[in-house]
Amino acid sequence: MINLLFILLLYASGSWYIVAENTSRFEKNGQELLLCRKCGADVADSYYLFSKESPGAQKTEKQNLFGRQNVTVQTLVNPFGIKFEIVTAKKARCENIGTNQGADSWFPGYTWRICTCPHCTQHLGWTFESSKSIDSKGDDNKSFHGLILSNILGENFTDSLIMMPKMYKM
Ligand SMILES: *[C@@H]1O[C@H](CO)[C@@H](O)[C@H](O)[C@H]1NC(C)=O
Ligand SMILES: *[C@@H]1O[C@H](CO)[C@@H](O)[C@H](O)[C@H]1NC(C)=O
Ligand SMILES: *[C@@H]1O[C@H](CO)[C@@H](O)[C@H](O)[C@H]1NC(C)=O
Ligand SMILES: *[C@@H]1O[C@H](CO)[C@@H](O)[C@H](O)[C@H]1NC(C)=O
Ligand SMILES: [Zn+2]
Repeated sequence: MINLLFILLLYASGSWYIVAENTSRFEKNGQELLLCRKCGADVADSYYLFSKESPGAQKTEKQNLFGRQNVTVQTLVNPFGIKFEIVTAKKARCENIGTNQGADSWFPGYTWRICTCPHCTQHLGWTFESSKSIDSKGDDNKSFHGLILSNILGENFTDSLIMMPKMYKM
């Protein structure tokens, strides 16, 4: 019962990830695999997380996540009013669905496609691609991915997760 209360407190205070992932141990390389929360397939590496801020973000904050410090977490809202908390990554293993959409992009100058898990087709986020590749010297700026936090999981988090009740899903 005491444990249960403790977990509830963590959840309520919003410090769930920070407490669960005391980052002091991975500061050296900051690399941790990000897994599909549905099937556990590895879909990205926290090494490739970077900050790409959307001008339309409802909220932007820094969190310590996946062995990295100050990861930019943005709350974005789609035209249907659905909110997503996302992190941006330069690389991810995405199975992109559909054709590039230009309208309603959260990142001006970029088109988007749905990014799904290559293993189980769970929706993971979006792949954004720059429509004009003229200016970019390398491939770095041409595309990136927005990954939905609630659909991914850090690999180092899975062991502790097994012992947690599933209430975080509510
Ligand atoms: C993380 O762990 C280290 C030692 O392992 C400890 O000194 C530090 O206070 C912890 N930080 C947090 C935020 O729990
Ligand atoms: C976290 O994952 C990385 C990459 O596999 C590993 O090197 C590190 O030891 C892990 N840390 C913990 C605390 O499990
Ligand atoms: C994260 O942000 C804190 C506070 O702004 C800063 O002191 C720290 O150096 C930053 N860490 C990294 C790795 O950028
Ligand atoms: C990406 O864009 C930034 C700013 O526009 C620029 O400084 C950087 O050199 C670009 N990187 C590559 C690899 O083109
Ligand atoms: Zn999956």
